[in-house]
Amino acid sequence: MDLLGRLTMEGLSFLSTLFVFAVGSFVLIVFILFIIDISQTADAIRRNYPVIGRFRYLFTRLGEFFRQYFFALDREELPFNRAERDWVYLSAAGMDNTVAFGSTRNLTPVGTVIFVNCPFPTLEEHGMDVPAIVVGPYTDRPYEFRSIINISAMSYGALSTPAVRALSKGAALAGCWLNTGEGGLAAYHLEGGCDIVFQIGTAKYGVRTLGGLLDEGRLREIAALDQVKMVELKLSQGAKPGKGGILPAVKVTREIATIRGIPVHQDSISPNRHPEIDSVPDLLDVINRIRGAARKPVGFKAVVGAYGWLETLCLEIHRRGIESAPDFFTIDSGDGGTGAAPMPLMDNVGLPIKEALPMVVDIFCKYDLRDRIKLFASGKLITPAEVAWAFCTGADAVNSARGFMFALGCIQSLKCNKNTCPTGITTHDRRLQRGLNPEEKSVRVASFVEKMRTDVGVIAHSCGVPHPRALKRYHCRIVQHTGRSIPLDELFPPVGRPQQLAAKDLSVALGDR
Ligand SMILES: Cc1cc2nc3c(=O)[nH]c(=O)nc-3n(C[C@H](O)[C@H](O)[C@H](O)COP(=O)(O)O)c2cc1C
Repeated sequence: MDLLGRLTMEGLSFLSTLFVFAVGSFVLIVFILFIIDISQTADAIRRNYPVIGRFRYLFTRLGEFFRQYFFALDREELPFNRAERDWVYLSAAGMDNTVAFGSTRNLTPVGTVIFVNCPFPTLEEHGMDVPAIVVGPYTDRPYEFRSIINISAMSYGALSTPAVRALSKGAALAGCWLNTGEGGLAAYHLEGGCDIVFQIGTAKYGVRTLGGLLDEGRLREIAALDQVKMVELKLSQGAKPGKGGILPAVKVTREIATIRGIPVHQDSISPNRHPEIDSVPDLLDVINRIRGAARKPVGFKAVVGAYGWLETLCLEIHRRGIESAPDFFTIDSGDGGTGAAPMPLMDNVGLPIKEALPMVVDIFCKYDLRDRIKLFASGKLITPAEVAWAFCTGADAVNSARGFMFALGCIQSLKCNKNTCPTGITTHDRRLQRGLNPEEKSVRVASFVEKMRTDVGVIAHSCGVPHPRALKRYHCRIVQHTGRSIPLDELFPPVGRPQQLAAKDLSVALGDR
């Protein structure tokens, strides 16, 4: 036998040994799994169907990934369907996001929003820039802004370093604000030079004493920064109303500890409400205390559930004087997002923005406070139609968190609570963060904002008004269970002329309280 023949025989003999070894190992592993499954008692499926039962878990897990690509229809997934995500992706990438052939949207489900186009739309050259809104007229530094969409609160900690850097730069490019979320102010928030809304959560991260109380001196320092334009006191957020949180010791790195003002490498507990705010007067007291220190506009964020307290709030404001009012109210939707929350709170607690926004607008109109307290709305408002709906209803601006996550490249893998976010947005794993280039993504963030402004403007022009802030409830209809749509102003009749509360009515109402 020549050399080639000998080598061939040896190769074949090696491969056959390898094959026998692989099959043997496979059989051995299956046998071990079989013994493990049949002798354990914790899992009925694996005990009754040893080895095969394990595939159930594998397929359930893989299903999460494959559904998105192969099986789910364009308008089917939650929290955001493919059509919505694609609109953001294409806008952020600055690509053409027109659609061919016709709408894939079914217009019959209850709640579908339909805008009332005007027979004589506003000529594009007659379109106007969105007028500015001034927040906090009684403060030393009122804040004037124009942007119809801004970046909702997401803390540094929930978001990675490159994500915050990209948002900061993107917000500066787009001329919108960035809310810090409740994790304190990091240098990365300031880096891009954008306007900042500083949020104070229940743990007062970033402005807390060691005992967890408000450190007014620190607040004064932060609010003195020119970039910090407003302060937002967070009462609750839609995904977890009435729930605090634990920041586990492993996540409390030296940097996070310094930013948040907490001891390093120790669990940090956020209470489930501000301990010092137990009533409407308490809320106004704290807002005024913060405003006294910050000397800039101060508002609050909450998801609405019970609503009688909002009337009490209005009455208390009138009793104290109009200056005592919060400068803004950010209304979050019951189906808002978060890094991590218990399912029952996420699914079933707190009103969706579609109900809460008109209700709050009407209460504030009733008490003649609608102009005094600016209203920002958040909750799955990531497409032009949703944003235009918010303006028809009465919002002054829209905030988005997850819309901007999509702009950063989020693929809705639902891993925000796992430190394994594949796009580097909500993970502190440096390997995964490598995929997120702040420079490149900041352009996408700005592009998303620009496209949103353009397309909401297009809806406004189609309805015959010159800019989105001129949209009214009668420009929008909502499909009912009968299959017919009715105007939004019939569904939620606006409180026409603000009711001027006579001193007599006010004292009666306060007496009734
Ligand atoms: C990753 C993540 C972190 C968040 N962190 C905060 C936070 O620190 N403070 C807060 O008030 N809301 C927080 N939120 C809620 C958002 O600000 C927003 O209110 C909510 O997600 C609804 O907006 P969206 O539907 O556009 O995401 C967070 C949301 C996400 C997705």
